[in-house]
Parts: sequence; C-alpha cells; structure tokens
Amino acid sequence: MKIAILAGDGIGPEIVAQAVRVLEALRSDGLKFELEPGLLGGCAVDATGEPFPEATRRLVSDADAVMLGAVGGPQYDTLPREQRPEQGLLSIRKTLNLFANLRPAVLYPELANASTLKPEVVMGLDILIVRELTGDIYFGEPRGIEQRRGQRVGYNTMIYSEAEIRRIAKVAFQAARKRNRRLCSVDKMNVLECTQLWRDVVTETAQDYPDVELSHMLVDNAAMQLVRNPRQFDVVVTGNMFGDILSDEASMLTGSIGMLPSASLDDRNKGLYEPIHGSAPDIAGKDAANPLATILSAAMMLRYTFDEEAGASRIESAVKKVLASGYRTQDIYEPGTKKVGTAAMGDAILANI
Ligand code: IPM
Ligand code: MG
Repeated sequence: MKIAILAGDGIGPEIVAQAVRVLEALRSDGLKFELEPGLLGGCAVDATGEPFPEATRRLVSDADAVMLGAVGGPQYDTLPREQRPEQGLLSIRKTLNLFANLRPAVLYPELANASTLKPEVVMGLDILIVRELTGDIYFGEPRGIEQRRGQRVGYNTMIYSEAEIRRIAKVAFQAARKRNRRLCSVDKMNVLECTQLWRDVVTETAQDYPDVELSHMLVDNAAMQLVRNPRQFDVVVTGNMFGDILSDEASMLTGSIGMLPSASLDDRNKGLYEPIHGSAPDIAGKDAANPLATILSAAMMLRYTFDEEAGASRIESAVKKVLASGYRTQDIYEPGTKKVGTAAMGDAILANI
C-alpha cells in the first residue's frame, strides 16, 4: 500500500508528523505500507507556482490513500483564485473523485466540559455527517464576478444531478445501517429547486433501505437543532456547502474543532484523510496545535481504505486512554488537566498504542 503524505501549510506539518509516528508504530507491528511526501496548497504555490502541481497529481493518483494536514494562509488570500491553496484541496478532491466525505462528531466523555454547550446536552453525542464533496455550488458553472449595467455582480451555480445525489445517498444509507439506522437528509427545498431534487432522489433511494428510518430537515432548522438537541441525530446527509457549514458547527459540540477527523472516499474506498480544521496560521510552529483530529484521521484510513479495523481501534482506544489520563492540548484544556504541546500529545498516544 502506498500512502501519499501532504503536510500542507500552517500547523499541517506538525500535526501530520504525529499521525505519521502513529502509523510507523503500527508498521513495526506488521502493517505494510510506504509513505511518500508531496506538496499541496501554499507550500506548493511557493515551490512551483501552483497549489496542486503535476508531480502531486501523479503521486496521489498512484497512491492508495492520502494523508493531508491543512492548507492555506493569509499570505495567499490575494492571489488569483486558481492559485490559492484552497483550490489545490478542491482540485485533489475532484481529480480523485472523492465524492463521499465522512465527518464523525463524537464527544469523548472527558471533554464534556470543553464543549460550549451544557454537558447534559452533548453527553453521549455520536453523529456522522456525510457530506457530498465534488458537486454543488462549489463546482457549479457558470460562476464569476463581472460587470453588468455599470456595477459588479457575483454569481455561482448550485447544481446536482440525480446520479450525484443517489450515490451519496447510498453511502449515507449504508453508513446508517452500520449505526443506529436513522438518517436525516438536510436541504433547503422550500426555496431552492436544486435541493427539491435532492429531497426527491433521497426519498426514492430510501426504498432500497426500508430498515433505515429517513427524515428530512431544512438546513436552517438543522443548524438550530444541532445546538438545541444534537443527540437526535445519527447520520446526517447533505450537499457540499451545507455539509461544510454544519460540520464546523457539529465540531464545536465535541469541545474543539481540533478533535474532528474526516475521510473523503471515491466509489472504491480510495481515500483522502484530513482533520476538518484549517491551517491555523496563528499557532503554526508553536507546538500548540491539537494533533488528535489528524491521528484519528489515520484511524479512519486504516478502517476505510485498508480494512484494518484492529489498527483503527487501537488508535482510537489510545486517544480515549490519553484523554482519560488527563492530557490536553490548549484548545481542550481545562484546569485540573495536564496541558501538553503537539509533540507531547503524540508521545502520549504512542505510549498507549
Ligand atoms: C473543509 C474546508 C474546505 C471546504 C476549504 C478549505 C476549501 O472548509 O474541508 O471543510 O470548504 O471544503
Ligand atoms: Mg469547512
């Protein structure tokens, strides 16, 4: 197996280094893979002028899985859009056809007080957000900013084909089958035709999954319900943009965005694994970032691409033990726990693998 390692920008290299140590520890236990580094995002722009250079395209196309840190930084925000780091991320998702983005939001009981919501609201939280990742307004054409009648107008296109909706719906129904068999589909069908089609196609797809209980929710209500009573959700399926927003919201229920891993899969379980947070330039290079989302992303890689459930569980139990022993990076720190840096958090995980 070949894993491409794209550390990216900001805190990316620090957090990916810890996930790599965890993978290496499992390798010495018999897991077989090669790691190959590559450039994506701002670091790629600096080196080659492009956020997703040809060499990286070849690397990730040949790899079985990709581990990604984070991309972006304020120094790139004024570049033309096609040269921005975020474009590298969108291109890699599109190139590899990674349409299914799984974002689990799980509350570790030890972190109940780190959440901004009351512990009794979030205790036991375990949601899986299934976000469509290669369509919607993110990729829709036409798009642009142009002059019309003496002023600038900006526009984008929200578009989904029924095939795109059906394939992500299937992923979500199948995921629900492995969990509590409840699926909530989120749309804005009261206003947007595109999401009326979304609702229709998800409803049709449900006929093949009579054992899964399907409900529908408008996105504004879903945003509210996530903070009002988040435990009502099991699996949530939604489009690219609503999924982007709701997954950031869900992350805060778990105490910190630094805790949420993700998997982005194609139809053959090739995957890109990354924390859902960004490159956090303000704390980059300070050994302050939380590496747990990235380490948990490595566990998802073992589970989904390599079918190595045992290795995945070992990583996840190590995370639980380390949190139970009181280790905390600054984002989840509270008085009475032990504040550690990025590398020391990695040490603690390794000691428990
Ligand atoms: C995410 C990020 C990206 C997205 C950005 C960096 C392009 O917010 O992975 O959630 O919007 O998909
Ligand atoms: Mg996002």
